[in-house]
Amino acid sequence: MLFRKKQTTEFAVPTHIAIVMDGNGRWAKKRGLPRTAGHAAGAETFRRIANYAKSIGLKYLTVYAFSTENWKRSPEEVQAIMDLLEKYLRELIRDMEKNRVRFCFFGDLTRLSPELQAEARETAEKSKIYDGVQVNFCINYGARDEIVRAASAFAARCARGEAKPEELTEAAFGQLLYSADVPDPDLIIRPSGELRTSNFLLWQSAYSEYYFTDTLWPDFTEADLDEAIRAYNGRSRRYGGVTT
Ligand code: IPE
Ligand code: IPE
Ligand code: MG
Repeated sequence: MLFRKKQTTEFAVPTHIAIVMDGNGRWAKKRGLPRTAGHAAGAETFRRIANYAKSIGLKYLTVYAFSTENWKRSPEEVQAIMDLLEKYLRELIRDMEKNRVRFCFFGDLTRLSPELQAEARETAEKSKIYDGVQVNFCINYGARDEIVRAASAFAARCARGEAKPEELTEAAFGQLLYSADVPDPDLIIRPSGELRTSNFLLWQSAYSEYYFTDTLWPDFTEADLDEAIRAYNGRSRRYGGVTT
């Protein structure tokens, strides 16, 4: 898939881009606003970038919205993020016909409020019929948690006599992750200047290309996504082999 930028250059759009939506708090602090204002601004940025991703023909967009470690924050901040998520999902359900985006959720949703869980389920269920970009929304997601759950699910199968330990393959293990049936991310973007994964897609990122930028997530624009895709196009992916 190719898209045109400033009528001059063409880039191949990767199949799957994942983004750590980081820097909301610092964005707010810079403006003398409460951290929650940064989360609200970050939610708007997500809306914009998801629309753009759809328009350039991206197939999968995975976004890290709330980690298994983010519960360490103040109850007020956690509540504000949960309220924003709820508001956002309600709007998504309302505008689904217009947006035609398929939504999936990665993470342990059982720790969320029953209302939020119900909205996430409804969003995923109702959007199943759309075949534009698939957005994987990571809420209460942690890659280590995901891997332990998969290992535990396989062990339970073995205990029930439905599988044998020696039968486990990388592909079969991948099917036990939240990302089953989703190809691994080609490109992982982390804004806000942090140079770490913070427990995001540890299994799936084995051969992903990383792109780091100092831009804070609420300031992230369509042009920043173009720039990340341009950088991606300059990479040589070898998967342990050699290029000829
Ligand atoms: C990302 O922004 C949003 C969540 C982690 C929920 P942060 O809130 O981490 O923003 P910074 O890193 O403090 O700037
Ligand atoms: C990662 O950002 C999680 C999300 C953006 C949802 P954090 O802000 O939680 O990561 P650390 O704490 O800086 O590593
Ligand atoms: Mg952060």
